[in-house]
Amino acid sequence: MTDENQNGPSRRAFLTGAGAVAAGTLAGKASAQDDPAIAIKPWMQELGDGVDVSPYGMPSPYEEDVKRRTVEWLTADPVSSINFTPIHALDGTITPNGICFERHHSGVAKVDPAEHRLMINGLVDRELVFTMEDLMRFPRENHVYFLECAANSGMEWRGSQLNGVQFTHGMIHNVQYTGIPLRLLLEEAGVQAEGKWLLAEGADAAGMSRSIPMEKALDDCLVAFKMNGEALRPEQGYPVRLVVPGWEGNMWVKWLRRLEVGDQPWHHREETSKYTDLLDDGTARRFTWEMDAKSVVTSPSPQAPITHGPGPTVLTGLAWSGRGTIPRVDVTIDGGITWHEARMSGPSTPKALHRFYYDFEWDGSPLLVQSRAHDSTGYVQPTKDQLREMRGLNSIYHNNGIQTWAVDADGKAENVEIS
Ligand code: MTE
Ligand code: CO
Repeated sequence: MTDENQNGPSRRAFLTGAGAVAAGTLAGKASAQDDPAIAIKPWMQELGDGVDVSPYGMPSPYEEDVKRRTVEWLTADPVSSINFTPIHALDGTITPNGICFERHHSGVAKVDPAEHRLMINGLVDRELVFTMEDLMRFPRENHVYFLECAANSGMEWRGSQLNGVQFTHGMIHNVQYTGIPLRLLLEEAGVQAEGKWLLAEGADAAGMSRSIPMEKALDDCLVAFKMNGEALRPEQGYPVRLVVPGWEGNMWVKWLRRLEVGDQPWHHREETSKYTDLLDDGTARRFTWEMDAKSVVTSPSPQAPITHGPGPTVLTGLAWSGRGTIPRVDVTIDGGITWHEARMSGPSTPKALHRFYYDFEWDGSPLLVQSRAHDSTGYVQPTKDQLREMRGLNSIYHNNGIQTWAVDADGKAENVEIS
């Protein structure tokens, strides 16, 4: 690096002008005196690792904190449990495979793809059993979709509880799936006229199963074998899982081994005792498959405080809807007194995560940060109070209420509730 670059004005200062420097709003440092770390470093003076030192690459050791985490007290045993995607530390919209949250009812099934079979039975003209090789001969498609567990934010229903967006909103991931339209497999088997429902069943010890209406099965469901270009991870259902775009994660059966066509739903455990919402009048909402529009600020948040002090600040977050795209997200930093339209960035495809930003000058005073999603059907994300008015206090699932983070003058953030 030349003296001119070390001591002269930085490119940023040049671009923003002297006025900005005087106002103290500049995000960079002006000279080497201000930041001695610009000096020559050991890694600039030695050779690094050659190729093939890690044939399957891992993140930098400086990023070791970016990992899935669980909440010990949530479940009695890790084989029927959940962990959370570190969304506070991610950007863009795609979730890297190694940090997609996991939810298992009986642990990760160890499936040998050569021995694995997918069967279609019930009200079909031809019962069929496919090998993985058979499946590879069907035309395949690529789509990016979010998967959100219906229990995401469930612990926040009665009030703010977990201090981190990873824990409050991290039962979600968004990957590109390669898969076969389920419709093609059902056409091969020939669904009979009375065939109105489909039971999807997993090859794990839980034999997890869900009833899916035939309309959805024939619409946009996929039998997927790749995520983000590579084979599904064992945790995500290797070698094959069901993708049910926009619908609650529980229906996305992993280690998929059987599809039964029937004339009515099966009323299995996951659609009766679980994944239903007990209302105040004693009745329960059932078959609430579509995930309502939701958004959350991922930074600043309790695990991603503002560490740089007042001045230019990037607020960012995620938004999604099980019914389409997210054309607009509003952001407030004063607890809803004033709202600003966020800047959407990245692809906006239906039933996938959307990324938003709000770039502002932080004056160093405490903030109450919220985001509010609008989806392509015109639906607007409700406050938590509005949700509780509609559904009472017994619910766990389908909490898409507006989240609040209180940021103090030091930039530290905390999970609070104001509406
Ligand atoms: N499929 C099987 N076979 N077994 C399971 O335990 N868990 C379900 C669903 N599919 C599950 C399953 C639940 S509740 C969710 S939220 C998603 O898988 C989680 O998918 P993931 O582990 O890829 O995040
Ligand atoms: Co789930």
